[in-house]
Amino acid sequence: MFNSKIIGLGKYLPKKVVTNYDLSEIMDTSDEWIIERTGIETRRHIVKNDDDTTAVMAFKASKIALQRAKIKPNDIDLILFATLSPDYYFPGSGVLLQNFLKIENCPAMDIRNQCSGFIYALSTADQFIKSGKYKNILVVGSENHSGGLDMTTRGRNVSVIFGDGAGAAVLTREIDLKRGIQSFSIYSDGQHALELSLRGPSTNRWVPEILEENNPDDTTYYPNMNGQTVFKNAILRFSEVIQEALDQNKWSVNDLDLLIPHQANLRISQFIQKKFNLNDNQVFNNIMRYGNTTAASIPIALTEAWEEGKVKKDSKIILAAFGSGFTWGGISLIW
Ligand SMILES: CC(C)(COP(=O)(O)OP(=O)(O)OC[C@H]1O[C@@H](n2cnc3c(N)ncnc32)[C@H](O)[C@@H]1OP(=O)(O)O)[C@@H](O)C(=O)NCCC(=O)NCCS
Repeated sequence: MFNSKIIGLGKYLPKKVVTNYDLSEIMDTSDEWIIERTGIETRRHIVKNDDDTTAVMAFKASKIALQRAKIKPNDIDLILFATLSPDYYFPGSGVLLQNFLKIENCPAMDIRNQCSGFIYALSTADQFIKSGKYKNILVVGSENHSGGLDMTTRGRNVSVIFGDGAGAAVLTREIDLKRGIQSFSIYSDGQHALELSLRGPSTNRWVPEILEENNPDDTTYYPNMNGQTVFKNAILRFSEVIQEALDQNKWSVNDLDLLIPHQANLRISQFIQKKFNLNDNQVFNNIMRYGNTTAASIPIALTEAWEEGKVKKDSKIILAAFGSGFTWGGISLIW
């Protein structure tokens, strides 16, 4: 019998800081509007002509995580790569990362569950470790949003929210079952698939079709979001998976040392904090600095919380996410 345990964390953020004021110069928006509705002050964007891509950022975060875990790349048995913005339509970014790390032979799998991607990937890693199939697993979340956003007033409800970055975690076997991942729950509800989506180019709208139509008003190849529907479902689903994680462990709210919610929107985190009556030290937020980095948001936040000394031995932690699909999930762990 094994548990799975995180033994190394790393993050990478591209160097270009984009402020709300920068955005207000290229679209009709304002610092006040963005802060009031989302809490975001800055986000990072990949600099054109820098070498950063989704897989390159994942590589930079993974190198730090591996170093901290004291694990050599060739000791990794499986790569799980969560992203909605892979380098290519195919192949997935996992194999690119494997090549950058010079891992000679290990399976690499891309996980396509958007903002819940890291929770799905950690849950998958947990099961592969618990089954005894693999010992060391590298789990990454990495996103390159900035190049694909509609940076005009037309796309402002989406483009002010999202940022680029990557986070990585190395997991290994733990024989003490009171440590490591204690429980996970993952869910989907495809009836809301198009409420937060990017539909073309895809097999539903292949590139030749889009080019043939040549329609300047076509926004299907930008991310589209029904913000209010997403908001309402997010607070419901976040609450459910957090309660489920508490119940599965018989933890009270006071037992919880740290909640790391997917950094969707500061208003969502604040709503959840209030609902569960958590104090400021129990909830970690960094969306103010990085915006919503989708599958990368939880590993970036977890890394930052660890770097700040907020994740300690015996800490009881819940990770929770909600996003496009809709998909959502929660993980409880003891450090
Ligand atoms: C996106 C979100 C911030 C928008 O806030 P909202 O209060 O729902 O705002 P609305 O969409 O109703 O728009 C209100 C007005 O602000 C405008 N607006 C939208 N984006 C704007 C921006 N960036 N700057 C200024 N005005 C903006 C709208 O055009 C609208 O104007 P109108 O009243 O003249 O039509 C909010 O819905 C939200 O946070 N949703 C969840 C998003 C999320 O978490 N996504 C990630 C999920 S993983």
